[in-house]
Amino acid sequence: MLAKAIILIGGPQKGTRFRPLSMELAKPLFPLAGVPMLQHHIDACKKVPNIRQIFLMGFYDESEFATFMTQCISPDEGIQISYLRETQALGTGGGLMRYRDIILEGQPDILFVLHGDVCSSFPLNDMLAEHQKRAVTDHFTLMATQVERERAHLYGCVVENPETGEVLHYAEKPQTFVSDLISCGVFIFTPKLFDHINALSGPPALDLDCVDDEEADPRNSHNVSLERDVLVQLSGSGKLFVYKTLDFWTAVKTSGSALHANRCYLSFVRKSNPERLVAAKPAGSGFPTIVGDVIIDPTATVDPTCKLGPNVTIGPGAKIGAGVRIVDSIVLDQVEVKPHACIIHAVIGWQSIVGAWSRVEGVPGLPGTGNQYVNGQKNNGVTILGKGVEVAAEIIVRNCIVLPHKSLTSNQRNEILL
Ligand code: GTP
Repeated sequence: MLAKAIILIGGPQKGTRFRPLSMELAKPLFPLAGVPMLQHHIDACKKVPNIRQIFLMGFYDESEFATFMTQCISPDEGIQISYLRETQALGTGGGLMRYRDIILEGQPDILFVLHGDVCSSFPLNDMLAEHQKRAVTDHFTLMATQVERERAHLYGCVVENPETGEVLHYAEKPQTFVSDLISCGVFIFTPKLFDHINALSGPPALDLDCVDDEEADPRNSHNVSLERDVLVQLSGSGKLFVYKTLDFWTAVKTSGSALHANRCYLSFVRKSNPERLVAAKPAGSGFPTIVGDVIIDPTATVDPTCKLGPNVTIGPGAKIGAGVRIVDSIVLDQVEVKPHACIIHAVIGWQSIVGAWSRVEGVPGLPGTGNQYVNGQKNNGVTILGKGVEVAAEIIVRNCIVLPHKSLTSNQRNEILL
């Protein structure tokens, strides 16, 4: 059985809620637990023996992903990775249609489709086993998870037949409560998916035989939503089933939501690759004091008098001075944290400087949101410093989003600093 995976990564116009962090780096490459977000998807795909080819599909410039693509899979793993670029946003299903012929080369039996902005342990082997156990053919499976009732309307809601696991009803971000079972943005399709997309009504018609003129090819411009168009239509047809994961799942939408995702992946690393975490060290041992899950890049320098954790990642080339305390935060590449500064529930952007005795602090947001706004003002969220922000000594920055290259010389609270 041959399987391929397609990871939908969107494009520059999509990750706007991830500003200011997406101003420097495409959101799918933002580091979570010390590696690009997409690396977690790819590592999960590598564990499925049948996946020999992975496609990244999006409308970012290909060059933004070139380095990542050469590093994310080593040549001896024998898995091919390629980028399929949409010239414009074609929706979560339009790009699949646009590149149908390439995807179907070699006649794969199974197509895994993964949203690039979700975080999970991606139990793809388990999901495939359950998919294959069903006594039907040409069916599809979506991964689902239970969320709090109040947050369900933010996602694609699924009503299942509890006896058969069949999806009876699918509603994308419904206005009223439908179900607390939601789609995780992880799917198993077969090549039959293309027949379903092809059968969708509405202009322009998808005439897939008309491919001689690239521009005239309707596949190049037809926007299809897998969720709103295909899943809605498939529900109740006996062809779409649920695979429920009890493991963690979250979506990365706002920049603040990166912190919750980082926490999830750090605790996953504790189970899957504990050697990547810094071993806990007691105070006075000549090493920084480490509490809980912490990853420090080997090129970072951390003073032995620091206390880090839980849930902290320190990026390449960062310098953390004496007596610094960091809790539940992402410190990105080449950041300098001067002595005795304190960072709690914050993302510190590339090359930023946090002055001595300063305090950069947020409060943890809801999973998947991370920042809240009241009357257009940011309130009660993770503090985010964009790239190259300078916080002067003895300053308190609380619940703020700070755009790149700002210098803060006075205390700030609940502000978006442009
Ligand atoms: P939002 O709340 O608006 O973000 O909607 P959503 O949570 O339903 O997410 P959305 O459907 O916009 O995106 C799901 C995944 O598909 C994300 O990883 C996107 O980057 C990706 N995606 C969205 N639109 C496109 C598209 O036009 N082309 C490609 N290739 N990927 C896309």
